[in-house]
Amino acid sequence: MTKILVATEKPFAAAAVDGIKKIFTEAGFETVLLEKYSDSNDLIKAVSDADALIIRSDKATRQVIEAGKNLKIIVRAGAGYDNIDLAAASEKGITAMNTPGQNSNAVAELTFGMLVFMARSNFNGGSGTELKGKKLGIHAYGNVGKNVARIAKGFDMSVYVFDPFVTKETIEKDGVNAVDTVEELYSTCQYISLNIPATEKTKKSINFELLSKMPKGAAVINTARKEVIDEEGLKNMFAARADFKYVSDIMPDNHSELLQFENRYFSTPKKQGAETSEANINAGLAAANQIVKFFKNGDKTFQVNK
Ligand code: 3PG
Repeated sequence: MTKILVATEKPFAAAAVDGIKKIFTEAGFETVLLEKYSDSNDLIKAVSDADALIIRSDKATRQVIEAGKNLKIIVRAGAGYDNIDLAAASEKGITAMNTPGQNSNAVAELTFGMLVFMARSNFNGGSGTELKGKKLGIHAYGNVGKNVARIAKGFDMSVYVFDPFVTKETIEKDGVNAVDTVEELYSTCQYISLNIPATEKTKKSINFELLSKMPKGAAVINTARKEVIDEEGLKNMFAARADFKYVSDIMPDNHSELLQFENRYFSTPKKQGAETSEANINAGLAAANQIVKFFKNGDKTFQVNK
């Protein structure tokens, strides 16, 4: 029987797990759950006889992939797939997929939760500022960026977007402003929402030079990946600019050093952008359906290691 391992160190909501199991039972597949594991060896052991693997931010390393002797497909139930060793998967002829767009509203809503929290002085009882009329820069216009733009319009913010992979016409059709360079985005906008993936090109790209271009009252909201930040540059920015704030959904490695910048720095203890039952259901069920279509019809839509 085709065996599907759902390995989630951060488990899906119960309704999503029920939905995933139902899809696989109806397809005649077996579901095996590995939740809240703390040792990667548990994943290496569990994957050994699985035909397919569903993960969230769990790391599908070369070791995991090589341990999956029967593996044919890995689906990252979510957007970013920087946690899959794509080269190792391709070498073994394993198809890797993501489920784009399925959790993007959840991440965009959290961005606004964080923006309001930051603008209202981390809810410390002091006076804050309003978002209305302020300039918000959206760094990358993928599914999350588009949802951030949609919500920002409801807050009456002026929205600017930089994305070298999306045409100016496409961006401006949504009633937001497209800028030509990343420098222009950071020098124009008081607030920046980071929505870029972690790639070889973007890692450490948000550095002191770029951040220091931001106008007075600058704040960056990071719901993307910690790797895109140059942490040394971030620390220098805090030291150089008493007005600068950074709110993150992915705890930086230098978190403990940044705690001294009280009321200007905040990080969630564990990434929770996609932690809604709606996002879990959307992404989890999409992953399950993609696996069924892959085995039944050879469907490779959403493959990321072509
Ligand atoms: C994603 O890339 O989809 C988000 O970062 C959510 O990740 P998670 O499923 O681990 O919460």
